[in-house]
Amino acid sequence: MNENYALSTEKLNEIRTSVDIVDVISEYLPLTGRGRNFFGVCPFHDDHSPSMSVNRERQIYKCFSCGAGGNVFTFIRDYENISFMQAVQKIAAKSGIPLQIASESEQSFTKRNTYHEMYAIACKLYTNNLYTEEGLEAIDYLERRQISKEARKEFEIGLSLKNSHLLTGLLDKKGFKKEEMVQNGLAHYKDGEFRDNYFNRIMFPLFDLTGKTVGFSARIYRSNDASKYINTKETEFFKKGELLYHYHKAKNIARMKEQVILVEGFMDVIRLFTIGIENVVASMGTAVTKEQLLLLKKMGKEIILLFDGDEAGRHAAYKTSSDFMKMGVYPKIVVLEDNLDPDEYILKYGKEKIEYKIAHPMNTIDFKLEYLKEDKNFSSPLDKANYISSVIEELNQITDPILRETTLLKISEETAFDASIIRSQLMDIQDTVKQVSLTPQKEGSSLKRNRYQEAERRLVFYMLNHEEIIELYKQKVKFLSTETYRLLAKEIHYFYEEHGYIKEADFINVLLEDNELLNTFHEITSLDLKDTYKKEEIDEYIDTIYEYKIIKQIDYLKSEQKKTVDQEKKKKLGDEILELQIELQKKKVWEEL
Ligand code: UTP
Ligand code: MN
Repeated sequence: MNENYALSTEKLNEIRTSVDIVDVISEYLPLTGRGRNFFGVCPFHDDHSPSMSVNRERQIYKCFSCGAGGNVFTFIRDYENISFMQAVQKIAAKSGIPLQIASESEQSFTKRNTYHEMYAIACKLYTNNLYTEEGLEAIDYLERRQISKEARKEFEIGLSLKNSHLLTGLLDKKGFKKEEMVQNGLAHYKDGEFRDNYFNRIMFPLFDLTGKTVGFSARIYRSNDASKYINTKETEFFKKGELLYHYHKAKNIARMKEQVILVEGFMDVIRLFTIGIENVVASMGTAVTKEQLLLLKKMGKEIILLFDGDEAGRHAAYKTSSDFMKMGVYPKIVVLEDNLDPDEYILKYGKEKIEYKIAHPMNTIDFKLEYLKEDKNFSSPLDKANYISSVIEELNQITDPILRETTLLKISEETAFDASIIRSQLMDIQDTVKQVSLTPQKEGSSLKRNRYQEAERRLVFYMLNHEEIIELYKQKVKFLSTETYRLLAKEIHYFYEEHGYIKEADFINVLLEDNELLNTFHEITSLDLKDTYKKEEIDEYIDTIYEYKIIKQIDYLKSEQKKTVDQEKKKKLGDEILELQIELQKKKVWEEL
C-alpha cells in the first residue's frame, strides 16, 4: 500500500503547517535571508555556492543547480535518508501532534518493529557469546587478524555457537513466533527440526542507513571448507543493494572531510577504521547499485574508489566509474598492487603507505585509460586499433568539452595517432548517436517549447497557488494540449475540489509516488515568475491555450481525413476543419485590432 496516504491530507497539512520550513531547514544548514527567499548550500549535490532557496511564503525549497525541491517533509526524508512517513512523524513529534496511523500501515509498522526487535536480540546474543568460553578461539582468530577490541565494539562483532537452538530458544521465550523467525531469516527447519540459521561462525551485523541491525554476514573461522560468508537472505527490511556498510557512522565524518571512500568488503571498512580512517563504506561484494551511487554522491564532494587490487577489483572500479560518469560524477581511484585488498594491503604496507595512496588517487579518465591499456601492446597494430576504438567510446562519455579535448590530445600523443583522425571518428559516433535519438522529444520536456506550451505551464504555475485561477481553468480552459501539463492541472483540480484550497507545499504530498508528475511539478515550480499575477497576463494565456487547442484539433482532423476512404466522411471532416480555420482566423484578426 501507499504509506503516504496512511494519514489524511488534512492531518498531513496540519503537521506541515505546525512548523516553518525556514526554521526546520536552518537546523540542518545555515540559511541567509534575502527578501522573502532564504538561501543556503544545497545538501543534495556537491556545491559551495548557495543555490538552494527556501521560500517562507510558499513553504517550499528549491535548488536551482540540481533541481531538488519539495516541502519540509521531503527535505527531511532526503536529508536523513528516511521514509516519507518517518519524516512526517519527526515533524509531528517536534510539534507535539499525536499521530494515529491507519490500521494497514500500523500492521506493517508492527512487522517492521518485530523485525528490528528480533535482530537487536540476536545481535546482543551473538556479541555476548564472544565472551563465553567458546568465544576464546574466535577472539583468538580476530586477534590474529588484528581486529582490535575497539573495532569489535564499534562493529558489534559477535559469534554464533555450536548450538543450533540458542537464538530460536531465546526468541521463543520472548514470545516471537516460529514463522516470524523463519520469515525474518533467523531460523529454518532441517530434518524435521527447528534450528538457528547461524551456527559456529563469527557474526558481523549489517546495519541499515539509520544504524539498526537488519541482517548478518557470518564468517567461517575454524576451517576453510564451507562458503566463507553466509549472508541473511533479502527481506522487506534488508536489501543489500540499498545500503552501504557503516553508512550511519561514516556519513557525518564524510560530510566533514568532504570525502567518502568506497571499498568492496566490510573487512576493509573495519581495517581502515582501526588505523583511524572512518569516512569509509562498503558495497559488500556486489556490483554497486544506482541507489548506492546516489547515496555516495550525497555523502561527500570527493568520492574515492578503493577496490581490491586484483583484476575483478579493477574491473569493478572501471564499471563503477562509468556508472558515476553517467551521473556527472567523476570519482577518484586508488589502485592497489600485488592483487591485495585494502585490508591485506594495510597489514602488509602499513598506515602511512595507504594514507599516501588515498591522498594521491588517480582521476577517473586516467584510470580508465590505464585500465583499457592493460595487456595491450602498442607495437601490435591490432591492439592499438582496439585501444583507440574503446577510447573513443570513453571520449564520447565525457560531457566537458575541455576535458574531452585534452584527453583526446593525450591519447593521440601516447598512441602516435593523428588527433584529427581521432576527432573525426569521435564525430562519426556522435552522429550515429544523434540519429538514434532523433525520436520525437517528449512533449513539454523539449527545450524548444513553443509559445503555446509556455502559456500552458505558466497557467499551471499560477493554478498551484491561486484558487481563483483553478476556477478560471474549470470554466474556461478544461483541457491542456500538452499531456504532462494536462495531467498536473487535473491533479491540482482534484486536490482543490477535495480540500477546497490549494497550496503547493501540501499538494506535493499527493505526487510523491509519481515520478512523471513530480518532474513536471519541479519544472513548473522552478519557473522564474512572480508569485502574483496580472489579470491581463492570465487572459492572454487562456487565449493562447485556446488557440493551441484549435490548432491541435485541426491537426487531428486532418490526419483522420487522410486515413479515411469514406468520401462522405472526408467531406464532413473537411467542413469541420474549415470551420475551425475560420475560428482561428477570426481570433487572429481580432488580436491584431
Ligand atoms: P571478499 O572475498 O573480498 O572478502 O568479499 P574480504 O573482505 O576480503 O573478507 P576476508 O578478508 O576474507 O574476511 C568482499 C565482500 O563480498 C561479500 C562480503 O560482503 C564481503 O565483505 N562476500 C564475499 C559474500 O557475501 N560471500 C562470500 O562468500 C564472499
Ligand atoms: Mn580480505
